[in-house]
Amino acid sequence: MTISERVESLLGQMTLEEKAAQMVQVPYNAVSREEALRWAKLGAGSFLHVLGDNAREVQQAALSSRLGIPVLFGIDAIHGHGLNDHATIFPTQLACACAWDREVVREMGRVTAREVATDGLHWTFSPVLCLGRDTRWGRVDETFGEDPYLAGELGVAIIEGYQGDSLDAEDSILACAKHYIAYGEAVGARDACDSEITERKLREVFLPPFRKAVEAGVATIMTAYGSMDGTPFTANRRVMKEILRDELGFDGFVVTDWDNVQSLVTRQHVCENLEDASVLAAKAGNDMMMTSLGFYESVIRAVRDGRLQEAVLDEAVRHILTVKFRMNLFEHPEKRGVPGCIGCEEHREATLRAARRSVTLLRNDGVLPLKRGMRKLAVIGENADSVVAQYGDWAYFTHPDMNLDHPPVRPYVTVREGLEAICREQGIECVYHRGCSVEDGLYSDIPGAVRAAEGADAIVLVVGDNQKQMGEYRDRADLALSGDQNALFGALRATGIPVITVLVASKPLCLGETAERANAVLCGFNGGMYGGQAIAEAIFGRLNPAGRLPISFPRHSGQVPVYYNALPGWHGGKYVDQEETPLFAFGEGMGYAPFAYDGLTMDADTLTAEVSVTNTGAAEGTETVQVYFRDVVSSVMTPVKQLIAFQQVTLAPGERRTVRFELRREDFSLVRPDGERVTEPGEFILFVGHSSKDEDLLQVSFRL
Ligand code: NOJ
Repeated sequence: MTISERVESLLGQMTLEEKAAQMVQVPYNAVSREEALRWAKLGAGSFLHVLGDNAREVQQAALSSRLGIPVLFGIDAIHGHGLNDHATIFPTQLACACAWDREVVREMGRVTAREVATDGLHWTFSPVLCLGRDTRWGRVDETFGEDPYLAGELGVAIIEGYQGDSLDAEDSILACAKHYIAYGEAVGARDACDSEITERKLREVFLPPFRKAVEAGVATIMTAYGSMDGTPFTANRRVMKEILRDELGFDGFVVTDWDNVQSLVTRQHVCENLEDASVLAAKAGNDMMMTSLGFYESVIRAVRDGRLQEAVLDEAVRHILTVKFRMNLFEHPEKRGVPGCIGCEEHREATLRAARRSVTLLRNDGVLPLKRGMRKLAVIGENADSVVAQYGDWAYFTHPDMNLDHPPVRPYVTVREGLEAICREQGIECVYHRGCSVEDGLYSDIPGAVRAAEGADAIVLVVGDNQKQMGEYRDRADLALSGDQNALFGALRATGIPVITVLVASKPLCLGETAERANAVLCGFNGGMYGGQAIAEAIFGRLNPAGRLPISFPRHSGQVPVYYNALPGWHGGKYVDQEETPLFAFGEGMGYAPFAYDGLTMDADTLTAEVSVTNTGAAEGTETVQVYFRDVVSSVMTPVKQLIAFQQVTLAPGERRTVRFELRREDFSLVRPDGERVTEPGEFILFVGHSSKDEDLLQVSFRL
């Protein structure tokens, strides 16, 4: 039989209770073992956060139920299979996005899929396709940055990595594009609050990455906690049915976020009781309800009372079963994965590659790479030697419960360790001092750090944030460096020894003087297992950094949101007490070899653009050639520039290459107030160059 025949045949045998159960996702760690087994026997569709033998026991219970429909196991494998403490931990999505490299991200997805599948699980709640535009938001680290084009491209790559060539392969898992939609846009960056956006803006800015994910065949989509213009996404039939299914053609299943159904009653106050909420959520197009276990009885009652048609349940269950059949779950309820691959050497090499590609050099007065013949290096700062900070959110330290005492599992290399290893090889003395804690008021010994640095040829100061300043519920009002990190920088800078500031943090922070007065600035974000090694290699020139920022760095918290593709402001959008530009711009990043651009042409008939790029330095380097456009006059306001393409070229010293882009008419489109996406005729400007900054771009005007 075809998959759809099998689905219909099975659906035809299911009772109302079995259908309702299929729509429930049970949080294993929030119920007792007995309850979990009871849910499995009732026919619950899915469980989350369960590993190993516990998962096997649940699956056996499900298989021994009346219809024996296998359970799907989902987990938050967000940057690697991080809740398993022996897994390969990758840089976060934001850090990986600095590579601007689809291959790096696809490989991260592939490795993660193999490890998750080897644990017998089927599904990761990843990728995040929300945009990180307001950096106060606690979950910016989970995004691919601020830009819809880049997020969409990298989103597709990671989905391809997770899902492989076919969902039924032993080492493929389901991807989950989340959080649908505009979750990152909540007012004031207050996690899960209302996003004050219109449908036009939704289509213009937030929908494109999800559209690409659907086109790439993403199997599942998770809805956002929040609301849009007063309607909770859980209740938004327009967004979930009409846009996602009818327009985009999504044919997988939709899962809610944590307790979203119950929240319609308890937090968002649009329903009086769980039965109303269950009816609303089911009608709006949610297929599977994460953790709102009361949905089961409520929805059964609602159908019995005639308040909800059973056909609504049929549709949801159809979506879920279709995915289960596509995975071949009925023949192979447990994925075998690749035995022995969890944390294996090949996977560790992949995360090292990703870390190396993500290192981003933002400023350099020539101090880097450190010169041979130096005698002493001082490494200062708590995050120089904190694997917890280096891993970031969604590692075994943070979920399901924050457990910072969980002993870190080797291998990993912190910045301190990476630098010490190179110094050992080169006979350089390397001293470390913590300086101060990232957290306010815990520890500060600035004089001790200055003493430790005495006589050093250079100081590497690692600044950043920690676990308590990132993640769900952990938005920040103030993005300035916390604790005494600024004072620590000031004291070290006053020694006259060159200071290299390194950022090990979940997201852009307002670095102030630690960036402006530093001799060099390197950004590593949360670099995963080998983040520290990659930074150390860049500092010593063993690696020519090629990262480019996928997100802007604000100068001040009061300046956020700062993103490059803003609409033009009638008064220029400038504060009287702050510069208009960000501290570091989208697309910015340098290496040890500069690149020169010339000869930009655009053929308006074929929409082919060409530009020549030359490596004018003395080292081989990788350049990311970025293409933006502006619609000069349009019926609605359009961004001052918008990224539409990028390509990477690796050039030897002195090498020059012509880079060609085949663009499409729809790349130059806008969304009209009625929601239609069109390309309006008229004049356009194409910008091509090194970053989103005007001074880094060549431009050419053309007409469509
Ligand atoms: C809540 C988070 O918002 C979501 O991203 C995650 O996948 C689920 N919890 C499951 O842990």
